[in-house]
Amino acid sequence: MDHVIRTDASDSPYNLLFKSLSLILLSHYFLFIFLIFIIFLYNFLEIHFLRDLVTGFRGDPVHLTYSASSKLYQTLAAKCHVLHGRYLPTPWLSSPHLQTAFLTFFGRAPDISYKRHLFQTPDGGTIALDWLTYSDVIQGSTHVNQGILNCEKNPIVVVIPGLTSDSAAAYIKHLAFKMAGHGWNVVVSNHRGLGGISLTSDCFYNGGWTEDLRRVIDYIHCQYPDVSLYAVGTSIGANMLVKYLGENGVNTPLVGAAAICSPWDLLICDRFINRRLVQKCYDRVIAIGLRGFAQLHQSTVARLADWEGIAKSRSIRDFDNHATRVLGKFETVDTYYRHSSSANFVRNVSVPLLCISTLDDPVCTREAIPWDECRANEKIILATTRHGGHLAFYEGITAKSLASYDIDQFHNQQYFCTNLSL
Ligand SMILES: *[C@@H]1O[C@H](CO)[C@@H](O)[C@H](O)[C@H]1NC(C)=O
Repeated sequence: MDHVIRTDASDSPYNLLFKSLSLILLSHYFLFIFLIFIIFLYNFLEIHFLRDLVTGFRGDPVHLTYSASSKLYQTLAAKCHVLHGRYLPTPWLSSPHLQTAFLTFFGRAPDISYKRHLFQTPDGGTIALDWLTYSDVIQGSTHVNQGILNCEKNPIVVVIPGLTSDSAAAYIKHLAFKMAGHGWNVVVSNHRGLGGISLTSDCFYNGGWTEDLRRVIDYIHCQYPDVSLYAVGTSIGANMLVKYLGENGVNTPLVGAAAICSPWDLLICDRFINRRLVQKCYDRVIAIGLRGFAQLHQSTVARLADWEGIAKSRSIRDFDNHATRVLGKFETVDTYYRHSSSANFVRNVSVPLLCISTLDDPVCTREAIPWDECRANEKIILATTRHGGHLAFYEGITAKSLASYDIDQFHNQQYFCTNLSL
């Protein structure tokens, strides 16, 4: 018979398959699993090494967004070669997460020591102003120290740190060091309760709190009325700065500003950070920082807000619900986010403002960038890079003390250009 159907179990196709699979070496299985893991990791960490390799490590151009009738662009930015350059991340940090993690855990910050001045607010609060000048960073300087400023004509830049960070943060040190080295008088305006000082009133800072910034800027302007005054905000500090600029409009002593990696819209950023697993990791880590801040001021916080809830907070939103919302007297967390988002204030900004954002920022998502509002305001130039992570921008093969190098070049150039036009 030709058509005998053989039912012998040992010859079924599945058995044959298992047989052949069992003949494959175990080490080959491990190799296969390892490969799958590498591909997963490559995607999970959004690594772009292969793309960089294929494009010959040329980096990506900086993309500029500005109003078609922008005089600021024509007179200044068009001449700033750094705004027309390309940015190539350090090849072994070719991932927004590796960039951001490297900044957080290694940083490689220069060793600097600030001169501290304590500033009192009318409500009894204390703000630590940390100054760094040219002679502080140039060794063997012949400058004689008289008071805080020794180059009184050099412009002053007020630096506003991000959430829960202060003048000791690696990116702030890099920024202050670079700018002071270029002749700027740098003053880091630490948020209340940060920079190693205690709270001396019941008032707390939050992402939309601009009162302190307003007072600090007015105070410094009063002290040095003839010096050009600039400001740089980073992360949540950038949000506060842009909100301040919008609230004040033309009524500000600042002659120029830069906003680096601003969250722009806290509501969009809140939704973003809760969406994917990798973002939730950031949410957890930032929440730990926020709890640490609350811990520093436990007696005050526990008296004014729900301490048990704060201690249990596992996300930024949790913390904001139990602490920020209560301390800032907002009805709901979303009210706080809506009210504090600087994107709402972009159209009223009336001094030259350079905004720098990365499209792969793992915290302050590109989704929140107010492209239209920036294009509609002649005073604003928005520079976006494809890569860079959150505040990191490492470049060069060694990533050695070059953190924020690009940021720095950008705004040094901007200030230089802006200064020339004044
Ligand atoms: C816009 O700026 C002006 C000053 O130029 C200020 O009086 C006004 O309050 C600002 N508007 C908003 C919505 O903050």
